[in-house]
Amino acid sequence: MLSRIKDLATELAPRLIEIRRHIHSHPELSGEEYQTAAFVAGVLSSNGIHVEENVGKTGVIGELEGNGSNGRILAIRTDMDALPIQERAAVDFISRNQGIMHACGHDVHTTVGLGTAMILSKLSQEIPGKLRFIFQPAEEIAQGASWMVADGAMDNVDHILGVHVFPSIPGGSVGIRYGALTAAADDLEIIITGESGHGARPHKAIDAIWIAAQVITMLQQAISRTQNPLRPVVLSIGQINGGRAPNVIADSVRLLGTVRSLHPETRAELPNWIENIVKNVCDTFGGKYQVNYRQGVPSVQNDFTLTQILQSAAEEAWGSSCVQILPEPSLGGEDFSMYLEKAPGSMFRLGVGLKDTEVNYPLHHPKFEVDESAIITGVVTFAYAVCKYWNIGETTANLSSMAVASN
Ligand code: NI
Repeated sequence: MLSRIKDLATELAPRLIEIRRHIHSHPELSGEEYQTAAFVAGVLSSNGIHVEENVGKTGVIGELEGNGSNGRILAIRTDMDALPIQERAAVDFISRNQGIMHACGHDVHTTVGLGTAMILSKLSQEIPGKLRFIFQPAEEIAQGASWMVADGAMDNVDHILGVHVFPSIPGGSVGIRYGALTAAADDLEIIITGESGHGARPHKAIDAIWIAAQVITMLQQAISRTQNPLRPVVLSIGQINGGRAPNVIADSVRLLGTVRSLHPETRAELPNWIENIVKNVCDTFGGKYQVNYRQGVPSVQNDFTLTQILQSAAEEAWGSSCVQILPEPSLGGEDFSMYLEKAPGSMFRLGVGLKDTEVNYPLHHPKFEVDESAIITGVVTFAYAVCKYWNIGETTANLSSMAVASN
């Protein structure tokens, strides 16, 4: 089965490069993926895959019926949106849309999703269940997955697989991570209210800027003294607004920040923990406060069995030297976790680092580039993982029965 998949992938490779370059040069912002979605729908339906458009606003779902003897549905999710960045990469398929760039590799993800669908559409008679290809919009604003889920993308799905490019490892390699892959990313707003007054007479006023400074300092110190150091919490205040003039004491300050954590239990305690610190500082100095804590996406927690399936698929396809078990999670956010609220799954990292360059620019950089050979690595890894999931073309029932057990 593996060699069949590899042959099909080799045959498809030129077309997939073409697809990726087309998507790369026509990037669209989150929630505006109209042309990308239409393109994806076209490729899917021309491969005999049942297509549903306008799911979760601009999302697309492709459903591939197997031979139906097993009712399970396995989903494969990729994302389609680009970023508000002016591309400066030295490629001849540079973005044609002013100020918009595929700087996070979602063009590669979409292509890998399509390539996997194209290959598996040729093997559908051997697939005992159903495959659902989810092409989601708006990952960059952490909302597309929620839109897709709200529109039923995860209805009846048993397990889900995902992928994200990773420039820190070379093209041709795959990063596997057990457990936490990304962090919960929550939004924080703190409003501190004091009393305005003359800058020369602080004792007749309540200085909201000074209290805000204490709040920030205290939050950072409290992380180091009251949070379990083995359960990371990152709190970054990225924006402060307050005050009207150099000699007028500010009566109000607004702080905006992001809060990252890996452990669900830690995350659950953070709103109260933050509010307590803000309250104590404000009470001490006579200020009033309001804390608005908005939960964003949860942490991506990779399911053990599905991760094992991805790892063994990648190792058999590419050799174990091409598979890295990633020792650390990222504190970035990824809305793949919204699907994991509905069914267990796993997301792998697809190495896209260029080998013949001194600098591999990071994700979201205007010069970000990928090693396009990674597309085939991704497609074969996904397609073969699907075979392993259903135990297609194998004699042992090991992985398949484990997959059922984790259900
Ligand atoms: Ni991304």
